[in-house]
Amino acid sequence: MNFKDVLAEKTELIEQMVCSFLPTVEGYPKTVLDAMAYSVRVGGKRLRPMLMLETHKFFGGKSNAVSSFAAALEMIHTYSLVHDDLPAMDNDDLRRGKPTTWSVYGETMGILAGDALLNYAFEVAARAVEEEPSAQTARALSYLAKKAGIFGMIGGQVVDIESEGTKPTLDTILYIHENKTAALIQAAMVVGAILAGADDEDVKKIESVAYDVGVAFQIKDDILDVTSTAEELGKPIGSDARNEKTTYVSLKGLEDAQKDVEQISRRALATLASCNGENEFLEALIEMLVERGK
Ligand code: IPE
Ligand code: IPE
Ligand code: MG
Ligand code: MG
Ligand code: MG
Repeated sequence: MNFKDVLAEKTELIEQMVCSFLPTVEGYPKTVLDAMAYSVRVGGKRLRPMLMLETHKFFGGKSNAVSSFAAALEMIHTYSLVHDDLPAMDNDDLRRGKPTTWSVYGETMGILAGDALLNYAFEVAARAVEEEPSAQTARALSYLAKKAGIFGMIGGQVVDIESEGTKPTLDTILYIHENKTAALIQAAMVVGAILAGADDEDVKKIESVAYDVGVAFQIKDDILDVTSTAEELGKPIGSDARNEKTTYVSLKGLEDAQKDVEQISRRALATLASCNGENEFLEALIEMLVERGK
């Protein structure tokens, strides 16, 4: 099988696995349960759970908790998108090829569906720690919480929004990329490594691999916002310009931005190669992200 077929197969399996953790749509808060399921089920690349599972495999991991953590992370990522699309934030109406959660369920239910996904993610992860109590699962939970929060994704979103209409420096842009995007990629790869029992030196290296993968991923996202189409991306293009965001692309130009994606991804692959593990698919996945079209 070629890489594309394997990728499609793995994506489908992850999709089923993540959706199997969703709560049943019933009872009084049915509307929000339905909005949660809608947001998660509409699709997406499932990159973060995939990176977690593949990093776990890279280190020969055998933890049963990894599926729960992977599902929890995809729920946290999905909540971040649901809130990112709100009128008060990027004000977008298309996500993963479908109308955004707030445009289907209204703003209030959009906010609550995001809150509910975030909290439910931690219910799922905490249950996995209860079922497999160990220093590793506890450390994984604490790392996930940190990277999703103010010293991670939320911190990045704050500065992203506050920088609208201003001319942030490259350092500020890198702070934004490191936090709004690389933080959850770090959560993916580091949790995978921790649960697999990787040693401290390798966990540190994986954190730096994931930093590079995450920053390159966001630079590419900024590129695609200019060069792609809504059909291909499944989300509106030109959203950054409309919101007066200074991006990596507006600061450095398209050509340099793509060169940096390549260079940063090469550095990620070199660091990965120096770790005590093996997984050809993971390497191919990181390479694919450089040339991705969506
Ligand atoms: C979108 O993430 C938000 C960014 C951090 C750029 P993805 O491009 O991974 O979105 P999905 O999950 O595939 O929809
Ligand atoms: C959002 O970055 C990153 C999140 C934490 C959601 P963007 O605002 O660039 O993501 P898209 O382009 O809407 O997916
Ligand atoms: Mg945004
Ligand atoms: Mg956005
Ligand atoms: Mg974007």
